[in-house]
Amino acid sequence: RFAATPRGPEDAILGITLAYNADPNPNKVNLGVGAYRDDAGLPVVLEAVRQAEHRILQRSLDMEYLPVAGSHTFLQRAIWLAYGDDVMQRMNGRFAGLQTLSGTGACRMAGELISRFLDIPHRTGKPLILLPDPSWLNHRPIFTDAGCKVASYSYYNPLTKSLDIDACLHSLENAPNASVVLLHACAHNPTGVDPNMDQWAAISNVMLEKSHLPLFDMAYQGFTSGDMDVDAASVRLFAEDGHKIVLAQSFSKNFGLYGQRVGCLSVMTDSEQETQAINSQLKIIARPMYSNPPIAGVRLVEEVLNCDDLQQLWRSEMKSMAHRIISMRSRLRQHLIELGNKHNWDHIVNQHGMFCFSGLSKEQVDTLRERFSVYLTANGRISMAGVTSDNVDYLADAIHHVTSS
Ligand code: LMR
Repeated sequence: RFAATPRGPEDAILGITLAYNADPNPNKVNLGVGAYRDDAGLPVVLEAVRQAEHRILQRSLDMEYLPVAGSHTFLQRAIWLAYGDDVMQRMNGRFAGLQTLSGTGACRMAGELISRFLDIPHRTGKPLILLPDPSWLNHRPIFTDAGCKVASYSYYNPLTKSLDIDACLHSLENAPNASVVLLHACAHNPTGVDPNMDQWAAISNVMLEKSHLPLFDMAYQGFTSGDMDVDAASVRLFAEDGHKIVLAQSFSKNFGLYGQRVGCLSVMTDSEQETQAINSQLKIIARPMYSNPPIAGVRLVEEVLNCDDLQQLWRSEMKSMAHRIISMRSRLRQHLIELGNKHNWDHIVNQHGMFCFSGLSKEQVDTLRERFSVYLTANGRISMAGVTSDNVDYLADAIHHVTSS
């Protein structure tokens, strides 16, 4: 019955891991997916998470269904982690939301809510979501599948390998009023380029003038600076400025809970009534999609955030992950300089978070894979989290080779 089904391509990010796994070269390096590795190149389970797991196991908890919206305690802790005490107090509980299947699920639920209920004056057809150019490769299909119209706003300048703030402001000014604008809260994926606080303020002002709705994707809180609060500054500034924010949070990276699928969607509202209405609709959207979210990962996050000792340990582990990546950025750049590479590699250290948007072309990425078994996404994004003391020189040699011919 499905004989005419056309075969589709592998995912542009997750497909890289499949190709890497099939490669017999012992020197192979996977810099595709944004997943943290330790300096031996191994996946990491944080000590705080291990201890939380141990404490939870001692309690022999049941494994009953969570409510459709997930754990209420988790939701409160997740929103607090993003916004901090001040905003939490000021909002006085006016957050709708639900536990999601990580950041992807949060974005998808946001898209579903927006496509069904976003209040736009004179709305005709699908609501418009503007993504930065470029954005995470999965954003476009997420929002398109959710029933939104997707377009881009200017963000990255490939010549300077940094933010083009003038072009960015200009495209936000010229977008239709009351568009939804997706913003990466920190550690922009794939470019590693974040606005500074003055630039965030300018973006916020334009968005207020245009009545744009900010949809923050915060998948990497902690990875820009190592500090959870510093990395939340953009979101908190927008809250201060009076925006009503839609926020997608992932706990995959900063808790190392990739396969556990822990995330949160929250929506600031104007009233208790609006909160309840949105909550009711989020449940109606989630129930036929996946019924209710998984319980194991969320318990770990709750335990860490509820216990001061574990929270402190987790924050310090988060810092170490960020700093190991920062040190690999310096070493990669340094080694390219020592090799006498003629290109400027300052952007490797100027960009933030898990990714370096290298500027390597698709052909250079192909050569890296074919000759050196170094795997990146086709857009030249390097997951710096996969760079280690052992492979950094090999990577620099390989990049030097493909950029010197
Ligand atoms: C990435 O961009 O590599 C991560 O967000 C993982 C994913 O799901 O794409």
